[in-house]
Amino acid sequence: MTDSRQRRTEACHSREWAPDRAAALPLHQQITGYCLDKITSGVWPPGMRLAPQRELCRQLGVNRSTVVTALGQLKALGVIEGRRGGGTRVTDVQAGAHSAAESGADSSEHAAPLASAGSWNAYVEEGVHYPNLPTVQDINRLEYEPGLIRLGTGEPAPELLPGEAMTRVLAELSRQTLPPLSYEEPLGSLGLRRAVSRELAKNGIEADPASILITSGALQGLQLIAMGLLPRGSTILLEKPSYLYSIHAFQSAGVKFSGLPLDEGGLCVERIAGEARRTKAAMLYSIPAFHNPTGILMSAERRQELMEVTGRLGLPILEDGAYQELWLDAPPPLPLKALDREGRVLHLGTLSKAASPGLRIGWIVGPEPVVRRLADIKMQTDYGASSLSQLAAARWLEGGYHEEHLQLLRAKLRQRRDAVLELLQCHFADLAAWNIPSGGFYIWLSLHKPVPLRTLFRTAHKAGLLLNTGDLYDRSDGRHLRLSYVYAPPAELEIGLPILAGLIRKLQQAGV
Ligand SMILES: Cc1ncc(COP(=O)(O)O)c(C=O)c1O
Repeated sequence: MTDSRQRRTEACHSREWAPDRAAALPLHQQITGYCLDKITSGVWPPGMRLAPQRELCRQLGVNRSTVVTALGQLKALGVIEGRRGGGTRVTDVQAGAHSAAESGADSSEHAAPLASAGSWNAYVEEGVHYPNLPTVQDINRLEYEPGLIRLGTGEPAPELLPGEAMTRVLAELSRQTLPPLSYEEPLGSLGLRRAVSRELAKNGIEADPASILITSGALQGLQLIAMGLLPRGSTILLEKPSYLYSIHAFQSAGVKFSGLPLDEGGLCVERIAGEARRTKAAMLYSIPAFHNPTGILMSAERRQELMEVTGRLGLPILEDGAYQELWLDAPPPLPLKALDREGRVLHLGTLSKAASPGLRIGWIVGPEPVVRRLADIKMQTDYGASSLSQLAAARWLEGGYHEEHLQLLRAKLRQRRDAVLELLQCHFADLAAWNIPSGGFYIWLSLHKPVPLRTLFRTAHKAGLLLNTGDLYDRSDGRHLRLSYVYAPPAELEIGLPILAGLIRKLQQAGV
């Protein structure tokens, strides 16, 4: 099994439990009892790795000696073992049960489930879907750890989301209609598809509701396309770096990637024909507007060229428009879908980036047989996006709330972007170069000298920073960071960015 397929079966108590300092039972005994319960009930199966001691201390809010004592007790009970190079793991079922029984410690309570716990590890290793990269798993967990300054997060801060306006929408709806509690039709609610159709028309995309499939976010759109349209072993062309490298929707469906470079005008179109022929590419994926992670906006000329080149090759395009409406300086050129006269472009949109990532509403626009095929898979996946979310989204768009919110959001993002650019000028001028994004969320920081990005991620975490390193978007990258100006408040960025500059300097000087 390759690295990228290795499952991380790390036991970590997450944040729902911590020992009770007011209780009479000593902290280490509470921790021992908690872990024992997890192990004997099979929630932590044999072979599962425990988080490193340092991490456990942090998660449980206790000092090292407390954790060491608790782990010592668990080892003495035979339910965990240390493996050289492999950390501390839950022991094999029988051995653990035996030793626990022999030790007499609470064994009556725990013996039965232990004996029945199967080895889930083999299963966890085998499922068809690839796991996230370890750094992505860390980010997904650490984003819920209070106190970290999130320098690369790809969603707007809660204070930038339209909480009050959405409350008004929900109140309006609750007065007007009974909540939709049934499933919706396969393509999604007609009301929402009509509203999306009208939104798309503002961007030059003519799509009637029969060409629109409502998805649970754009991410599900990617999953459906990966599973429903591409044969195993096929190749898609894409920008490198790309958001698509940071998820495993396509690789899990057996689809290969062939990355093409970008310049300041977007994807280098002259590379497409050769690469498409060489790889017999089945599709081209692009984020032409405010690309994730580089922030690059594809120029109008480049879009025309892209359509022409791919038209000659008969190559379908998957256009990801997740950030399209988030322009800051001037509206972007027309989307590729608006230039499409042959039904060759599939277009993805979402409400996640401007209005609400939690609503989980996105859409795919494409030829009717394609969206019907994808809708059929969606019906087998989740029977549709939440009916309540679809109702709220339709009202949000139809009531003009979205447009109003976008205008406010753009003004706030402009300020935040400019503040971050100033900070970069102060602290990174000798260390890196960067783009000035005209929309979207991201600044792609390009370090003059490479640093080991995983080490930087870890040291930054210890210093209270959460990073999105460039290797998440291009495995071979060793000199980029995706910075986001939409999550951490300016005051935190003022603290966090100089700390980051200091850490990078140290690593570069150490030549690690
Ligand atoms: C380019 C791009 N596409 C799609 C998505 C998925 O967004 P969602 O599923 O929240 O709509 C993201 C999220 O980061 C993204 O950056």
